[in-house]
Amino acid sequence: MNPGDDLGGALRAGLRRLAKGVVVITSRHEGVRFAMAATAVSELSMDPPSLLICVNRSASLEAPLSAGADFCVNLLHREQAELAVACSGQAKGEARFATGRWSGADVEPPWLEDAQASFACRQEQSLAYGTHRIVIGRVEAVRLHGEIDPLIYVDGRYARVA
Ligand SMILES: Cc1cc2nc3c(=O)[nH]c(=O)nc-3n(C[C@H](O)[C@H](O)[C@H](O)COP(=O)(O)O)c2cc1C
Repeated sequence: MNPGDDLGGALRAGLRRLAKGVVVITSRHEGVRFAMAATAVSELSMDPPSLLICVNRSASLEAPLSAGADFCVNLLHREQAELAVACSGQAKGEARFATGRWSGADVEPPWLEDAQASFACRQEQSLAYGTHRIVIGRVEAVRLHGEIDPLIYVDGRYARVA
């Protein structure tokens, strides 16, 4: 890269080469459920058990997260691309829960019953950075389901591990 080159374009092009597992982050705030497809998620540490998520502050999930709500990170199975599409804009609000098998409406935060794994997190810290919010969650419960066969997103497409 040289000064004046399109750094943003190069960053996007570079990140298309980064294969990521796809998750759906859920939360609940003032009785309303939220769900959003995401890949900007990382393990943080085992002690304390923790994950971090990066969420655009223009996303609907900003309302619960900025209010300090807890959240759940649901790792999708390769057969759950339809849910990822619904939770990345095709559906809105509560309609996102029409796809997939979800925990009872009273469970907080909501978890996806047939996700590869679900991590229920208590929100511990959050930091606004530019367009995004980085949120650290203390993992309080983990649920596992089925064989390991995750949904992957790479080069702008959904894929599976060969
Ligand atoms: C594969 C994939 C990964 C995404 N990862 C993130 C992410 O990590 N963080 C984020 O804020 N948005 C991410 N998005 C975009 C949101 O899912 C999308 O903008 C969503 O519609 C925003 O939520 P809203 O419609 O509730 O406002 C991703 C979208 C896709 C398709």
